[in-house]
Formats: sequence, C-alpha cells, structure tokens
Amino acid sequence: MKLHKLFETAKLGSMSLKNHIVMPGMETNLESPDGFVTPRLVDYYEERAKGGVGLIIVQTATVDYPRGKATPLQISIDHDKYLEGLSDLAQAIKRGGARAAIQLEHGGRYAYSGLTGQQPVGPSASLSPLGEPVKELSVADIMELVERYVQATVRAQKAGFDGVEIHGAHGHLLAQFLSLNTNQRQDKYGGSLENRARFLLDVIRACRAKMGPDYPLWCRLDGAEYGIEPAIDCAQTAQTARLAEEAGADAIHVSAWGYGVEFTFFCPGLPGFHLPSAAVIKRSVKIPVIAVGRILPELGEWALREEVADMIAMGRALIADPYLPKKAEEGRFEDIVPCLGCMECIGTIIEGIAKAMSDPAAPFEGELKCPVNPAVGRERECTISPSPAPRRVVVIGGGPAGMEAARVARLRGHDVTLMEKGTQLGGQLIAASVPPHKEAISLLIEYFRTQLTKLGVTVELGKEATMETVADAKPDAVIWAAGSTVQQPEISGLDWSKVVSAHDVLTGKATVGDAVVVIGAEGIGCETANFLANKGVKVTIIEVMPQALSKEGPLTQMRLFDELAKKGVELRTGVEYEKAGREGLSIRTSAGDKRKLVADTYVLATGARSNSELVPALREKFDHVDVIGDALEPRRIRDAIAEGFSAGQRV
Ligand SMILES: Cc1cc2nc3c(=O)[nH]c(=O)nc-3n(C[C@H](O)[C@H](O)[C@H](O)COP(=O)(O)O)c2cc1C
Ligand code: SF4
Repeated sequence: MKLHKLFETAKLGSMSLKNHIVMPGMETNLESPDGFVTPRLVDYYEERAKGGVGLIIVQTATVDYPRGKATPLQISIDHDKYLEGLSDLAQAIKRGGARAAIQLEHGGRYAYSGLTGQQPVGPSASLSPLGEPVKELSVADIMELVERYVQATVRAQKAGFDGVEIHGAHGHLLAQFLSLNTNQRQDKYGGSLENRARFLLDVIRACRAKMGPDYPLWCRLDGAEYGIEPAIDCAQTAQTARLAEEAGADAIHVSAWGYGVEFTFFCPGLPGFHLPSAAVIKRSVKIPVIAVGRILPELGEWALREEVADMIAMGRALIADPYLPKKAEEGRFEDIVPCLGCMECIGTIIEGIAKAMSDPAAPFEGELKCPVNPAVGRERECTISPSPAPRRVVVIGGGPAGMEAARVARLRGHDVTLMEKGTQLGGQLIAASVPPHKEAISLLIEYFRTQLTKLGVTVELGKEATMETVADAKPDAVIWAAGSTVQQPEISGLDWSKVVSAHDVLTGKATVGDAVVVIGAEGIGCETANFLANKGVKVTIIEVMPQALSKEGPLTQMRLFDELAKKGVELRTGVEYEKAGREGLSIRTSAGDKRKLVADTYVLATGARSNSELVPALREKFDHVDVIGDALEPRRIRDAIAEGFSAGQRV
C-alpha cells in the first residue's frame, strides 16, 4: 500500500511538517534526577528524529518543579537554568530532521510527596490515588500556575522548540479540573464544563496572548476516562475542544485515560482504539486533530483519507523502531521492528516510580526499556559499526537471542551461520506468540526470519550443534544461544503419561483433558492457563513460590491476574506437593490445609534449565565462545534480545 496522505506535508498552526506522523510525549526516565536534559535523552530523541517522523513532542516537562512532577525523574522547564539542556534537545531533534515541540505538564494529585517532598495539590481537597491528602488550589494558586505555563512556553520558544503541547489529559492537573471525578469545586473552576475547563482555557489564552498568533501551541485531551464514574466522555471533550479552539489552540491531540484494570487503556492493545473519539472531536472543531492509540502506517493512512484525523501520533511503535517512518515511506514494511504491545516500556516507568517512592535514597532504576529494541536509551553506544576484522561466526540456536546475535553480527560484516536443531526459527517465541494478546510476537519471528534472509545469514535448520558440526563450520567465533529445557518437578506418584509441557500445549503438539493443573505460575504457566481457559478448560495453577508472575512487570501482572480471575482460573501459590495418585494431585496449601486437585492433564511450566552442556568443550577448542540468552540463564525475551545484540556487537 502506498501511503500518500501520511507522507504529504502537513500544517499545525503556522508550523509546516514534512509529513503527518507525530511522536507523542512519552516519559523515558532518561533525564537527570534534578530535572535536566541528559546527553542520553538528547541521543534518544535525535535518533527518532533521524528516523523520519514529522514532529516530535518531547515527554512531559513540568512547569512547577518539584511540586508538579509526577515521575521521579522529569524534565523541568520552570527556570532558565534548564535552558541550555532544553536547547540541546530542541537542536538535536531539528538536526535529525523533525520539528520539535515539548509537552507542558503539572502532575497535581499525581505529584506524590514521595516524589516531590511536598503535599500534592489538585482542584479539590481529596485523597490522592495513593491515599495522601490533596491540597485544594486557591484561585491565587491557579493564577500563579497559569503564569508558570506562560513562562514555560516562553522558555520553550527560547530553547528553540517549534511549539508546545499543553497536557490536559491523562489525569494530570488540567485534566483533574476537567473531570467531575476529581473536581468538586463550587467556584468558577468547578461545576459546569465551562467552569471546569476554565483553568485549561486560561492557560491557552494567556500563552497565546504572550506568544502572539503564530507560535504553535495546542492541547492534549482525553476523549474518554475509563474505569471510573463520573468520567470525562467524548461529548464533553468535543465541547472542551471547541472552547480550546476559541481560546487559541492550534490543534487537539485526542488520547484517553484509565483507572484500575483499565489503566492501560491509554496505551491500547487494540489498533485505533481512540480513533472513534478523534473522529467525533474532528467534527467539532476546524483546527487539526491528532489521533493516537496503536496506529500503524496503513491504519494512519486510512484515518487521514477518511478524515477521521488530521495527524497520526505513533508512540510505542517509535520506541520499538525509530526508523519506522522512513521504512514505511520507502515501502520497506518488512524491515519495521514490530512493537509487541507488551507494555514493558510503560511498566519500567511505573516500576521506577514505585521503587523511587519506596526507597528514595537508592540509585534510580526504571529507565525506559523495550524488548524489541535493546538500543533504547543507549542509542550512542548501540550504533552498529562495521567490524574491523570480519570473521566467520557460528551462532547456535534460532531463538530470540541467537537470531538477534546473527542479525547484528551480519550487519557488522561477519560471515554468519546460524544452526537451529528445530525445523523453524523462533525458539521460545513460537510458543510465546500463542496465548491471548501475544499474537504480535509472531510478527517479531517473521521480522527476524526476513532480516536473516535479506542479510544473507546462512540458516541451517534441523542441525544439532555437536563438537563435530560446529568444528565442521570452521568458526572463528561461536555464539551459544541454545536456550533452555523445562525442569521436571519432583512429585511422587505422578503419572507421567498425563504430563505435557506448556510449550507443547501452546504449539499444538500436546492435547489436554477437561481439567488441567498447570504446575508453575510464572509467565509461561499463567499465559498457558489463560490460553486453556479461553478454550473452556477448567484450570488450576499451582506454584511452590509465594508469588505468581514474580518476574513479570506490573502491567502484565495486573492484566493476567484480572483475566485469570474473570475466567475462573484457580491460582494457588506457596503450595507443597504431597503426592499424586489416580484421583489427582494432593497438595498442602499456603494456609497448611490439604487439598486434592483433580486433573486429566498436568501442564509443566516450572523453571527451566540452561542448555549449556557443550560450552566447556567449545571453550577448550575455540577462542571466542559467547553464551547468551536462556542458555546463560532463563529469563525474559527482553534479556535474550539484549544479550543477542551485545554478542553481535562483541564478536
Ligand atoms: C513509556 C510511555 C510513556 C508515556 N509517557 C507519556 C507522557 O509523558 N505524556 C503523555 O501525554 N503520554 C504519555 N504516554 C502515552 C503516549 O503518548 C501515547 O498516547 C500512548 O503510548 C498510545 O500511543 P501508541 O499506541 O502509539 O503507543 C506514554 C506512553 C508510554 C508507552
Ligand atoms: S516495550 Fe513492548 S509495548 Fe513498549 S514499545 Fe517495546 S514492544 Fe512496544
């Protein structure tokens, strides 16, 4: 499909853009703890600008430091001392070929005292989501904050930004005023929609008055708030958007927000999830509407053609592959690294917030991470350069670690052979792509297959690595990525004819009965249980450790626990196996009670053991033997790909 509309020039206020693709604001946790731009942050954005996006909206910058910051690290734009770093950032984005804007924000109730050292503020006295008392802003406070937005806009322009986005969404301060859920004021800032929008509109008017008619400024609004009542809805936002247009906004960026298990709706899994709201709002205003929410190029092209939106924001897709716009424009869709929709990116940010609040003195952990792009936040050190001495490299194992190592080594000019004992590439990714919500993993397998073919990696399927087969390949270097094997638990009396592995269940090699006990409650166990529950199987998961999904991020945990509970899957952690017999498996529960679990089939999803038997002998024979991925230690896809990338760089 040729994407004409997406790559036509666009206009946002007085600003012309080379195409219709926008990178929305996304926190990275790459800034300094005291609000300054860092060189790594500059590199991160410059890389995305080079990738061909038309406009980059830099992540939230607080107009009120530290009182307004909603994450442990957050760019500040509330003082001239930040100008130098902000200017470096704006110049880097422009040098990369994109327009640069920055998102102006105040966290309000989300600026917890654990992050700011101060009491959170909001439209009304209430309890914050963490149960802290929130101080109601006085009218004088509001007026002071309006001036802070104005000064921040002036600073953005001084730093070289082409425009600003005023953050009126995602439960931040201006959205807290817009939402009846958080605004119970009785004065001119509460009650009617016009009143609740007053703070936002005052900010837009004041910034417009100061900056004149030509400086691009616009706002982000929620087309919906999910998981809470009363909530912002699309009809209200259409009205707010009209008022924002009258106040001088140049565009409306339509997002959404969620609470509880619907929190992740702001980063939807479903492609184009927010497009219906964007369409409604577009019909209400004359200024451009930016749509967001898992929109890939073809869908974006459709939305532009059908006049559902005027510009298309792509967030996670550009974390996963900064060069998506260039590749799409050139029709090289097969070269785009697919975003898995796995939410590890936002998960790492949330983990960072939680850790910083629980132990403020500890070194900060929680920088943006993405399993499919190990270079995120390390763009400079991850530049792939040709090897000064190309060599013959043999990679053992066609899972994520091996495929990534082969790809990077080949890109660097090495002569690469990949041996895989199975009949297809993918390794653990094949089974991992089967459970609900994991389908995008199959796109990743396809991406790797295509890249290895295009790059000319020799892939030998059905070839087991032995000392002989490896030696026959005459390698200068060996990268061992042979994965892991599931460990068998010791359960006396277990009828092994009834035992199958989770991997075999997911890949269709094994069938199960009507009642299944899944042994092991880490990712693979819970995902397999979810998959089986969807097929109507009665599933119980048992785990000897006290915690299920302990290696997963907070959002994966939240999603899976919720889905398993809704599907009636029984999850028991901290159990002891007693013995298995004809009628089922006897366990002792964490409370010490005896229980008998009836099962037609037992699905093994217990810990895995690295496949590394050949490594010592290989090390005797070859100078360079690198062990990576599950073969080093069974972990997540993210670790496997990151280690594959590093191994490809090291060789
Ligand atoms: C890691 C991460 C950080 C985010 N931080 C922000 C932010 O600072 N400001 C904001 O308005 N939205 C933020 N968002 C939401 C995105 O701007 C965007 O609306 C969302 O990712 C949906 O778009 P996508 O499906 O194209 O990723 C963030 C999203 C992610 C994944
Ligand atoms: S972490 Fe997952 S959801 Fe986020 S950008 Fe990467 S692949 Fe996409």
